[in-house]
Amino acid sequence: MKALILSGGEGTRLRPITHTAAKQLIPIANKPILFYGIEAIREAGITDVGIVVGDTYEEIKKAVGEGKKWGSKITYIKQEAPLGLAHAVKISQDFLANESFVMYLGDNIIKQGIKSLVDEFRKKRANSQILLAHVENPGQFGVAELERGKVVRLVEKPKEPKTDLALVGVYMFDYHILEAVNNIKPSWRGELEITDAIQYLIDKNFLVHSHIINGWWKDTGKPEDLLEANRIMLDDLEARIRGEIDKSSKLSGKVRIEEGAQIINSVIRGPATVARGCRIIHSYIGPFTSIYYNVLIEDSEIEHSIVMEECKISGLKARIEDSLIGKNVVIIKSTSKPKAYRFMLGDSSQVGTI
Ligand code: G1P
Repeated sequence: MKALILSGGEGTRLRPITHTAAKQLIPIANKPILFYGIEAIREAGITDVGIVVGDTYEEIKKAVGEGKKWGSKITYIKQEAPLGLAHAVKISQDFLANESFVMYLGDNIIKQGIKSLVDEFRKKRANSQILLAHVENPGQFGVAELERGKVVRLVEKPKEPKTDLALVGVYMFDYHILEAVNNIKPSWRGELEITDAIQYLIDKNFLVHSHIINGWWKDTGKPEDLLEANRIMLDDLEARIRGEIDKSSKLSGKVRIEEGAQIINSVIRGPATVARGCRIIHSYIGPFTSIYYNVLIEDSEIEHSIVMEECKISGLKARIEDSLIGKNVVIIKSTSKPKAYRFMLGDSSQVGTI
Protein backbone atom coordinates (compact mmCIF):
# COMPACT_ATOMS: atom_id res chain seq x y z
CA MET A 1 0.00 0.00 0.00
CA LYS A 2 1.09 3.57 -0.63
CA ALA A 3 0.15 6.90 0.93
CA LEU A 4 -0.66 10.24 -0.62
CA ILE A 5 -0.42 13.28 1.60
CA LEU A 6 -2.02 16.44 0.28
CA SER A 7 -0.06 19.45 1.32
CA GLY A 8 -0.94 22.03 -1.27
CA GLY A 9 -3.67 23.99 0.55
CA GLU A 10 -3.25 27.75 0.87
CA GLY A 11 -4.43 28.15 4.46
CA THR A 12 -6.41 31.33 3.84
CA ARG A 13 -8.02 31.17 7.29
CA LEU A 14 -4.60 31.21 8.92
CA ARG A 15 -3.33 34.44 7.41
CA PRO A 16 -1.01 36.21 8.05
CA ILE A 17 0.91 33.13 9.24
CA THR A 18 0.30 31.45 5.87
CA HIS A 19 1.35 34.50 3.84
CA THR A 20 4.90 33.42 4.50
CA ALA A 21 4.73 29.81 5.65
CA ALA A 22 3.00 26.55 4.76
CA LYS A 23 0.15 25.81 7.14
CA GLN A 24 1.19 22.16 7.28
CA LEU A 25 4.46 23.22 8.89
CA ILE A 26 2.94 25.17 11.77
CA PRO A 27 4.25 23.49 14.92
CA ILE A 28 1.81 21.73 17.24
CA ALA A 29 3.51 20.83 20.54
CA ASN A 30 6.69 21.89 18.71
CA LYS A 31 6.26 19.44 15.83
CA PRO A 32 5.05 20.47 12.35
CA ILE A 33 1.47 19.31 11.72
CA LEU A 34 2.57 17.41 8.63
CA PHE A 35 4.97 15.25 10.65
CA TYR A 36 2.05 13.81 12.65
CA GLY A 37 0.58 12.51 9.39
CA ILE A 38 3.87 11.09 8.12
CA GLU A 39 4.36 9.32 11.47
CA ALA A 40 0.80 7.94 11.55
CA ILE A 41 1.31 6.55 8.03
CA ARG A 42 4.66 5.03 8.97
CA GLU A 43 3.09 3.47 12.06
CA ALA A 44 0.48 1.87 9.79
CA GLY A 45 3.36 0.15 7.98
CA ILE A 46 3.35 2.35 4.87
CA THR A 47 6.70 3.72 3.75
CA ASP A 48 6.10 4.71 0.13
CA VAL A 49 4.66 8.21 0.46
CA GLY A 50 3.79 10.82 -2.15
CA ILE A 51 3.33 14.40 -1.02
CA VAL A 52 1.28 16.63 -3.31
CA VAL A 53 2.65 20.15 -3.00
CA GLY A 54 1.74 23.57 -4.33
CA ASP A 55 3.43 26.96 -3.96
CA THR A 56 5.09 25.97 -0.70
CA TYR A 57 6.93 23.04 -2.31
CA GLU A 58 10.46 24.27 -1.44
CA GLU A 59 9.61 24.90 2.18
CA ILE A 60 7.93 21.52 2.63
CA LYS A 61 10.77 19.73 0.89
CA LYS A 62 13.28 21.45 3.13
CA ALA A 63 11.42 20.35 6.27
CA VAL A 64 10.57 16.79 5.23
CA GLY A 65 13.43 15.88 2.86
CA GLU A 66 13.52 12.35 1.49
CA GLY A 67 11.82 10.94 4.58
CA LYS A 68 14.87 9.09 5.91
CA LYS A 69 14.26 10.11 9.51
CA TRP A 70 11.00 8.14 9.44
CA GLY A 71 12.35 5.29 7.35
CA SER A 72 10.01 6.42 4.56
CA LYS A 73 10.57 7.17 0.89
CA ILE A 74 9.02 10.49 -0.09
CA THR A 75 8.11 11.45 -3.66
CA TYR A 76 7.00 15.03 -4.32
CA ILE A 77 4.20 15.62 -6.79
CA LYS A 78 3.68 19.20 -7.94
CA GLN A 79 0.09 20.45 -8.26
CA GLU A 80 0.26 23.56 -10.43
CA ALA A 81 -2.99 25.02 -9.08
CA PRO A 82 -5.29 24.14 -6.17
CA LEU A 83 -7.91 22.42 -8.32
CA GLY A 84 -9.25 20.07 -5.68
CA LEU A 85 -8.48 16.91 -3.74
CA ALA A 86 -9.64 14.63 -6.56
CA HIS A 87 -7.41 16.60 -8.95
CA ALA A 88 -4.51 15.82 -6.62
CA VAL A 89 -5.28 12.12 -7.01
CA LYS A 90 -5.55 12.55 -10.77
CA ILE A 91 -2.07 14.04 -11.10
CA SER A 92 -0.64 11.32 -8.83
CA GLN A 93 -1.62 8.39 -11.06
CA ASP A 94 1.96 7.54 -12.05
CA PHE A 95 3.06 7.50 -8.44
CA LEU A 96 0.05 5.43 -7.31
CA ALA A 97 0.59 2.84 -10.06
CA ASN A 98 -2.77 1.15 -9.41
CA GLU A 99 -1.87 0.28 -5.82
CA SER A 100 -4.24 0.81 -2.92
CA PHE A 101 -3.43 3.90 -0.90
CA VAL A 102 -4.29 6.07 2.08
CA MET A 103 -4.98 9.67 1.21
CA TYR A 104 -4.16 11.94 4.14
CA LEU A 105 -4.91 15.66 4.20
CA GLY A 106 -1.74 17.29 5.52
CA ASP A 107 -3.54 19.60 7.93
CA ASN A 108 -5.45 16.83 9.72
CA ILE A 109 -4.39 15.28 13.02
CA ILE A 110 -5.94 12.05 14.30
CA LYS A 111 -4.78 11.43 17.83
CA GLN A 112 -5.26 7.67 17.75
CA GLY A 113 -3.23 7.36 14.53
CA ILE A 114 -4.48 5.33 11.56
CA LYS A 115 -2.95 1.88 12.00
CA SER A 116 -6.13 0.08 13.09
CA LEU A 117 -8.10 1.87 10.37
CA VAL A 118 -5.67 0.84 7.64
CA ASP A 119 -5.71 -2.74 9.00
CA GLU A 120 -9.51 -2.68 8.85
CA PHE A 121 -9.47 -1.48 5.24
CA ARG A 122 -7.03 -4.24 4.30
CA LYS A 123 -9.20 -6.86 6.00
CA LYS A 124 -12.53 -5.65 4.57
CA ARG A 125 -11.22 -5.57 1.01
CA ALA A 126 -13.47 -2.60 0.31
CA ASN A 127 -12.88 -0.37 -2.71
CA SER A 128 -12.80 2.58 -0.36
CA GLN A 129 -12.98 3.25 3.34
CA ILE A 130 -13.99 6.65 4.62
CA LEU A 131 -13.79 7.93 8.16
CA LEU A 132 -16.61 9.94 9.68
CA ALA A 133 -16.85 11.94 12.89
CA HIS A 134 -19.75 13.64 14.66
CA VAL A 135 -19.12 17.41 14.60
CA GLU A 136 -20.91 20.54 15.76
CA ASN A 137 -20.41 22.41 12.48
CA PRO A 138 -21.02 19.88 9.68
CA GLY A 139 -21.59 22.63 7.10
CA GLN A 140 -17.82 23.23 7.05
CA PHE A 141 -17.03 19.68 5.92
CA GLY A 142 -18.06 16.98 3.51
CA VAL A 143 -21.18 15.47 5.10
CA ALA A 144 -22.31 11.84 4.91
CA GLU A 145 -25.87 10.51 4.83
CA LEU A 146 -26.31 6.90 5.89
CA GLU A 147 -29.08 4.36 5.38
CA ARG A 148 -28.97 1.24 7.53
CA GLY A 149 -25.35 1.96 8.33
CA LYS A 150 -24.35 2.35 4.68
CA VAL A 151 -23.24 5.63 3.14
CA VAL A 152 -25.66 6.63 0.41
CA ARG A 153 -24.81 10.27 -0.13
CA LEU A 154 -21.89 12.61 0.43
CA VAL A 155 -22.31 16.36 0.07
CA GLU A 156 -19.43 18.85 0.18
CA LYS A 157 -20.06 21.71 2.64
CA PRO A 158 -23.89 21.62 2.45
CA LYS A 159 -25.81 24.75 3.46
CA GLU A 160 -28.34 22.55 5.24
CA PRO A 161 -26.49 19.46 6.43
CA LYS A 162 -28.74 16.42 6.83
CA THR A 163 -26.48 14.80 9.45
CA ASP A 164 -23.67 15.82 11.76
CA LEU A 165 -21.30 13.24 10.27
CA ALA A 166 -18.28 14.95 8.74
CA LEU A 167 -15.79 13.34 6.42
CA VAL A 168 -12.46 13.13 8.18
CA GLY A 169 -9.50 14.06 5.99
CA VAL A 170 -8.13 10.50 5.77
CA TYR A 171 -9.42 8.18 3.06
CA MET A 172 -8.49 4.74 1.79
CA PHE A 173 -8.89 3.71 -1.82
CA ASP A 174 -8.08 0.98 -4.28
CA TYR A 175 -7.36 1.75 -7.93
CA HIS A 176 -11.04 2.28 -8.79
CA ILE A 177 -10.79 5.82 -7.44
CA LEU A 178 -8.76 6.66 -10.58
CA GLU A 179 -11.77 5.82 -12.73
CA ALA A 180 -13.85 8.07 -10.46
CA VAL A 181 -11.53 11.11 -10.54
CA ASN A 182 -11.33 10.83 -14.32
CA ASN A 183 -15.11 10.87 -14.70
CA ILE A 184 -16.33 13.61 -12.37
CA LYS A 185 -16.82 17.27 -13.27
CA PRO A 186 -15.61 20.31 -11.29
CA SER A 187 -17.95 21.52 -8.55
CA TRP A 188 -19.49 25.01 -8.25
CA ARG A 189 -16.21 26.19 -6.70
CA GLY A 190 -14.30 24.95 -9.73
CA GLU A 191 -12.61 22.05 -7.94
CA LEU A 192 -12.59 18.33 -8.54
CA GLU A 193 -14.01 17.21 -5.19
CA ILE A 194 -12.95 13.93 -3.61
CA THR A 195 -16.45 13.85 -2.12
CA ASP A 196 -17.89 13.64 -5.66
CA ALA A 197 -15.38 10.96 -6.61
CA ILE A 198 -16.46 8.81 -3.63
CA GLN A 199 -20.11 9.46 -4.58
CA TYR A 200 -19.23 8.12 -8.04
CA LEU A 201 -17.98 4.90 -6.40
CA ILE A 202 -21.19 4.62 -4.36
CA ASP A 203 -23.38 5.22 -7.42
CA LYS A 204 -21.49 2.56 -9.40
CA ASN A 205 -22.02 0.07 -6.55
CA PHE A 206 -18.41 -0.17 -5.52
CA LEU A 207 -17.93 -1.12 -1.88
CA VAL A 208 -17.46 2.05 0.18
CA HIS A 209 -17.07 1.19 3.82
CA SER A 210 -17.45 3.87 6.46
CA HIS A 211 -16.07 3.96 9.97
CA ILE A 212 -17.20 6.46 12.58
CA ILE A 213 -14.21 7.46 14.68
CA ASN A 214 -14.74 8.45 18.29
CA GLY A 215 -11.24 9.58 19.17
CA TRP A 216 -10.00 13.14 18.88
CA TRP A 217 -9.58 14.45 15.34
CA LYS A 218 -8.96 17.95 14.03
CA ASP A 219 -8.80 19.69 10.68
CA THR A 220 -6.47 22.49 11.71
CA GLY A 221 -7.85 25.15 9.41
CA LYS A 222 -8.43 27.98 11.92
CA PRO A 223 -6.33 29.54 14.70
CA GLU A 224 -8.58 28.16 17.47
CA ASP A 225 -8.20 24.66 15.97
CA LEU A 226 -4.43 24.99 16.21
CA LEU A 227 -4.62 25.99 19.87
CA GLU A 228 -6.93 23.07 20.59
CA ALA A 229 -4.65 20.66 18.75
CA ASN A 230 -1.72 22.07 20.70
CA ARG A 231 -3.57 21.51 23.96
CA ILE A 232 -4.46 17.91 23.10
CA MET A 233 -0.99 16.97 21.87
CA LEU A 234 0.77 18.68 24.80
CA ASP A 235 -1.33 16.65 27.20
CA ASP A 236 0.27 13.54 25.73
CA LEU A 237 3.84 14.74 25.80
CA GLU A 238 6.30 13.06 28.13
CA ALA A 239 8.20 15.37 30.46
CA ARG A 240 11.87 15.70 29.53
CA ILE A 241 14.44 18.16 30.74
CA ARG A 242 17.52 18.51 28.54
CA GLY A 243 18.19 22.22 28.80
CA GLU A 244 19.57 24.27 31.69
CA ILE A 245 17.30 25.31 34.53
CA ASP A 246 18.79 27.70 37.07
CA LYS A 247 18.15 27.38 40.81
CA SER A 248 15.67 30.21 41.01
CA SER A 249 13.36 28.73 38.37
CA LYS A 250 10.41 26.51 39.17
CA LEU A 251 8.93 23.88 36.91
CA SER A 252 5.70 22.03 37.63
CA GLY A 253 3.47 19.63 35.71
CA LYS A 254 4.55 18.00 32.44
CA VAL A 255 7.29 20.20 31.05
CA ARG A 256 9.67 19.54 28.19
CA ILE A 257 12.81 21.65 27.87
CA GLU A 258 15.02 20.76 24.93
CA GLU A 259 18.78 20.86 24.63
CA GLY A 260 20.40 24.25 24.59
CA ALA A 261 17.35 25.99 26.09
CA GLN A 262 17.95 28.11 29.18
CA ILE A 263 15.39 28.80 31.87
CA ILE A 264 16.45 31.63 34.15
CA ASN A 265 14.50 32.85 37.18
CA SER A 266 11.23 31.75 35.61
CA VAL A 267 8.14 29.70 36.37
CA ILE A 268 6.97 27.08 33.89
CA ARG A 269 3.71 25.25 34.46
CA GLY A 270 3.00 22.32 32.18
CA PRO A 271 1.89 20.93 29.99
CA ALA A 272 4.35 23.10 28.12
CA THR A 273 7.29 22.65 25.80
CA VAL A 274 10.29 24.85 25.11
CA ALA A 275 12.46 23.98 22.10
CA ARG A 276 16.22 24.15 21.59
CA GLY A 277 18.02 27.45 21.78
CA CYS A 278 15.27 29.31 23.68
CA ARG A 279 15.99 31.66 26.56
CA ILE A 280 13.24 32.20 29.11
CA ILE A 281 14.27 34.92 31.55
CA HIS A 282 12.23 36.36 34.47
CA SER A 283 9.11 35.03 32.87
CA TYR A 284 6.08 32.83 33.34
CA ILE A 285 5.14 30.13 30.81
CA GLY A 286 1.72 28.77 31.63
CA PRO A 287 -0.10 25.55 30.74
CA PHE A 288 -0.75 24.57 27.10
CA THR A 289 2.05 26.67 25.68
CA SER A 290 4.56 25.62 23.02
CA ILE A 291 7.62 27.71 22.37
CA TYR A 292 9.48 26.74 19.21
CA TYR A 293 13.22 27.09 18.71
CA ASN A 294 15.48 30.12 19.36
CA VAL A 295 12.80 32.21 21.06
CA LEU A 296 13.66 34.79 23.70
CA ILE A 297 11.03 35.51 26.35
CA GLU A 298 12.05 38.07 28.92
CA ASP A 299 10.06 39.77 31.72
CA SER A 300 6.82 38.49 30.23
CA GLU A 301 4.01 36.03 30.86
CA ILE A 302 2.41 33.72 28.32
CA GLU A 303 -0.13 30.94 28.52
CA HIS A 304 -2.24 28.74 26.20
CA SER A 305 -0.36 29.86 23.10
CA ILE A 306 1.87 28.76 20.27
CA VAL A 307 5.02 30.78 19.62
CA MET A 308 6.88 29.90 16.43
CA GLU A 309 10.64 30.07 15.91
CA GLU A 310 13.01 33.02 16.44
CA CYS A 311 10.53 35.32 18.22
CA LYS A 312 11.42 37.90 20.81
CA ILE A 313 8.94 38.81 23.53
CA SER A 314 10.09 41.20 26.22
CA GLY A 315 8.87 43.52 28.98
CA LEU A 316 5.11 43.05 28.52
CA LYS A 317 2.83 44.35 31.24
CA ALA A 318 -0.03 41.92 30.69
CA ARG A 319 -0.06 38.20 30.08
CA ILE A 320 -0.32 36.87 26.51
CA GLU A 321 -3.08 34.27 26.21
CA ASP A 322 -4.81 32.25 23.45
CA SER A 323 -2.31 33.49 20.88
CA LEU A 324 -0.69 32.17 17.74
CA ILE A 325 2.56 34.01 17.10
CA GLY A 326 4.34 33.48 13.79
CA LYS A 327 8.08 33.18 13.25
CA ASN A 328 10.49 36.10 13.82
CA VAL A 329 7.81 38.16 15.55
CA VAL A 330 9.03 40.83 17.97
CA ILE A 331 6.75 42.01 20.79
CA ILE A 332 8.61 44.33 23.13
CA LYS A 333 7.85 47.16 25.51
CA SER A 334 8.66 50.32 23.69
CA THR A 335 10.64 52.89 25.68
CA SER A 336 10.65 55.76 23.23
CA LYS A 337 8.38 58.80 23.68
CA PRO A 338 5.54 59.52 23.14
CA LYS A 339 4.10 56.54 24.97
CA ALA A 340 2.25 54.56 22.29
CA TYR A 341 1.63 51.21 20.69
CA ARG A 342 3.98 50.74 17.75
CA PHE A 343 3.04 48.03 15.28
CA MET A 344 4.34 46.55 12.09
CA LEU A 345 1.70 43.95 11.27
CA GLY A 346 1.27 41.90 8.11
CA ASP A 347 -2.02 41.68 6.21
CA SER A 348 -4.82 40.01 8.17
CA SER A 349 -2.97 40.28 11.50
CA GLN A 350 -5.08 40.39 14.64
CA VAL A 351 -4.14 42.21 17.83
CA GLY A 352 -6.20 42.30 21.03
CA THR A 353 -5.12 44.96 23.51
CA ILE A 354 -6.14 45.84 27.07
C1 G1P B 1 -11.72 18.85 2.95
C2 G1P B 1 -12.79 18.03 2.26
C3 G1P B 1 -13.96 17.79 3.21
C4 G1P B 1 -13.46 17.15 4.50
C5 G1P B 1 -12.34 18.01 5.12
C6 G1P B 1 -11.70 17.28 6.29
O1 G1P B 1 -12.21 20.15 3.17
O2 G1P B 1 -13.21 18.66 1.07
O3 G1P B 1 -14.90 16.92 2.61
O4 G1P B 1 -14.55 17.02 5.42
O5 G1P B 1 -11.32 18.28 4.17
O6 G1P B 1 -10.60 17.98 6.80
P1 G1P B 1 -11.22 21.45 3.27
O7 G1P B 1 -10.47 21.30 4.56
O8 G1P B 1 -10.34 21.37 2.09
O9 G1P B 1 -12.13 22.62 3.27
